[in-house]
Amino acid sequence: MKHLLSIEDLSYEEALSILDTAHEMARVSDGPVKKLPTLRGRTIVNLFLEDSTRTRISFEAAAKRLSADVINFAAKGSSVSKGESLKDTAQTLQAMGTDAVIIRHSASGSAHWLAHSPWMNGSVINAGDGTHEHPTQALLDAFTIRKHLCGGAGDLGGMNVGIVGDVLHSRVARSNVLLLSKLGANVVLIAPPTLLPVGVESWPATVSYDFNREIPKLDALMMLRVQQERMNDYFFPTSREYAQYFGLNRDRLTLLKQNSIIMHPGPMNRGLEITAECADSARSVIVEQVKNGVSVRMAVLYLLLAGSSEIASAVNAEVNA
Ligand code: NCD
Repeated sequence: MKHLLSIEDLSYEEALSILDTAHEMARVSDGPVKKLPTLRGRTIVNLFLEDSTRTRISFEAAAKRLSADVINFAAKGSSVSKGESLKDTAQTLQAMGTDAVIIRHSASGSAHWLAHSPWMNGSVINAGDGTHEHPTQALLDAFTIRKHLCGGAGDLGGMNVGIVGDVLHSRVARSNVLLLSKLGANVVLIAPPTLLPVGVESWPATVSYDFNREIPKLDALMMLRVQQERMNDYFFPTSREYAQYFGLNRDRLTLLKQNSIIMHPGPMNRGLEITAECADSARSVIVEQVKNGVSVRMAVLYLLLAGSSEIASAVNAEVNA
């Protein structure tokens, strides 16, 4: 594996090997010295041309825990805001001897374009391209479900996962549907018809418009942010009505099975797709998703840049040192 551009490119075995490697990486993050020497001397660029808090910081922490040198590059304050093209930016990064570029961009397909451009020799990791994919988010979500509900090993066979809300604009939903189904979970998309993409019938998931009917069947309930910045039209009548039909609130919380978990990729619109009470409830693993994100991104960087050999013994050497 040279790049991580989309879940579509990953085999079942590769996906599981990332989760297993992340499991080892979590031991490093939980240890006293949160660092492995593996990527010493490697340069990783965080090229974030669209806003981000969690994902950018998470990749930075992951790269630093593997001892890589990290360069943060944001649109604001760089020549991109002067209109520089992605091609010129790529050439500049290449000239500086970059081993990997982590890219977030508002255009779907941008990560693929960069990876296959003649101006980039290093690895490319997609950290969110438009409304297309966000593979590391799906991997950290699968890792979180596996840890809570599947004993932390194997695949997600038989798990019922509901993904609720603005599926239309969500790269998180698309990557999750592909990954969760690949790992054996049953996925149901719960949304108003206006917030489902054209062609959703061909996705490996079922569709429901009735949130209350689905909740009792779910092991994991993934709420999506209503992506107002991508909406140039009215997709639902009022926020109040959206929250009434598709928001997670106290009444719906009582319909959840025991042991089911509540997830959200963040950032949350508290009071719209999820009430503060639900977000902060004992069922919520939202903060833990952020923590798991670092382990999963360490695993991805490790597998792309250091090869797949001997992670367990490398971790043992550090943790037991
Ligand atoms: C998501 C994204 O940017 O796609 N957030 C994230 O990466 N944690 C989801 C979102 O913005 O709603």
